[in-house]
This record gives sequence, structure tokens and C-alpha cells, in this order.
Amino acid sequence: MSLKEEEGSDTPRLNIAIDGYSACGKSTLAKQLAQELNLTYIDTGAMYRAITLLLIRNGKIDDLSHNVTIKELGLELVDINFETDQHNNRILHINGESVENMIRSMNIAKHVSNVAEIPAIRKLLVQLQQKMAENGGVVMDGRDIGTVVLPNADLKIFMTASPGIRAQRRLKQLENQGVATTLEEVKGNITKRDHKDENRLTDPLRKADDARVLDNSELTHEEQLKLVMNWVHQIK
Ligand code: DC
Repeated sequence: MSLKEEEGSDTPRLNIAIDGYSACGKSTLAKQLAQELNLTYIDTGAMYRAITLLLIRNGKIDDLSHNVTIKELGLELVDINFETDQHNNRILHINGESVENMIRSMNIAKHVSNVAEIPAIRKLLVQLQQKMAENGGVVMDGRDIGTVVLPNADLKIFMTASPGIRAQRRLKQLENQGVATTLEEVKGNITKRDHKDENRLTDPLRKADDARVLDNSELTHEEQLKLVMNWVHQIK
């Protein structure tokens, strides 16, 4: 592995893969690293959430079967991309519409693991994610990034934290976004999604053999970043 230098520039063109359980801070770490290393953050969970939103809207969410096709789901013309706003946030757009707030609702969280189980949807999104990373320079977080999307990533991190801590953190995040919910509901949703993510047939959540494990139950954001930056500097 090598720190990939862009010709004529000292910007590292690393690809970093972050996988792990729901609500263990993957996006916080990914954003920290993107900022620190001048990389582009790609939130692949948001892409599965966006597809879920489309399927709810087009009335197909109850017609999901394992072998359903993209055409049958009415998704063949879908355009998904991230645009950077004036605060440098990466905002997900589907068919030109900003959906960032809508995709964080509990209703989307309830359906998204069923959507993420469908092979045709995974194939569509994995291809798109690989295209986004083809020139290097991304921090991508999800469930199958180190194993399927970016098997040659320069650094792979598998994140975990205790379920109680994860539920507390997600509750706080949802409350800040004005989403009405309870700790019990959040805990139940996280446990169910973990189970589905780990047990689905296509691209289940699992640690890549060469991933480093990061348990951040007891770490502050600063401690976590310091630890991971040490790993980045070890890439030779
Ligand atoms: O990271 P998140 O909670 O926003 O992800 C939403 C769901 O999408 C999660 O239940 C698992 C699924 N997902 C996936 O299957 N593969 C990915 N690369 C990212 C997310």
C-alpha cells in the first residue's frame, strides 16, 4: 500500500473504508478524516435510505421480493449524487431534489434494511459507489465497503461500540434533528438492523480480514481521530 500522491500536488489520494454497526459514529469519523486529509466523504447508508424514500413514494415498498428487478421497482432512471453546499456539507440529491432531512426519519430507518437486502439494489449502488471512488480520494462509510465496494482500500476500519451507548448517541442525534422518538424505539431499531445487516444473504456486514477494529465506546471524538490518524500515518 502507498500514500497515493496526485501528480504535481501533495494531496494524498487515499481511499479509506469504514464499516460497522448502526449508530456507532461512522459518519462522524468519516467527516473528521475527510476534513483532516482533504478527502471526499461518501455516506453510502444515505444512498440506501434515498432508495427507500423513493420506494415509499412510488408505492413499491410493500412489493419487495428477493429477486425483484430495478425496472420492476421503477428505479431504472434514478439519478443519485452528492452536492457540496456552502458549508462544505455533502448533500444527497435524488433526481435533482435534496433529500438529506427526509432520509433520516424513523420511517425510513424501519424500512431501509429490507431495501438493503435486495441484490439488484445492492448491485446498482455498489457500482455507483465504485465509480465515485475510482480516482481515489474518498472516505466511504457503510457495511460492505472494505469487503465489497473497496476491497483494495488503503485503510479499512471496522467500527463498533456497545449497543446501549449507540442507542443513546442516535437518540441524541435524532432529538437534535427534531425527530420524535424514544430510547426504546431507537434501541429496538438498532438491534433489528444489526441483525439484518449481519445475516442478509448479499454482502452482509462483516469485518474485512485486513480491517482494523475501532471500539469507540470509551473514546472522545478527539481521541478517536488521533488513533486513526496514527493508522493513516502508518500506511506506507
Ligand atoms: O449507515 P445508515 O444507518 O445510514 O445505513 C442505513 C441502512 O443501509 C443500514 O440499515 C444498512 C444499510 N447499508 C448497507 O446495507 N450497506 C451500506 N454500504 C450502507 C448501509
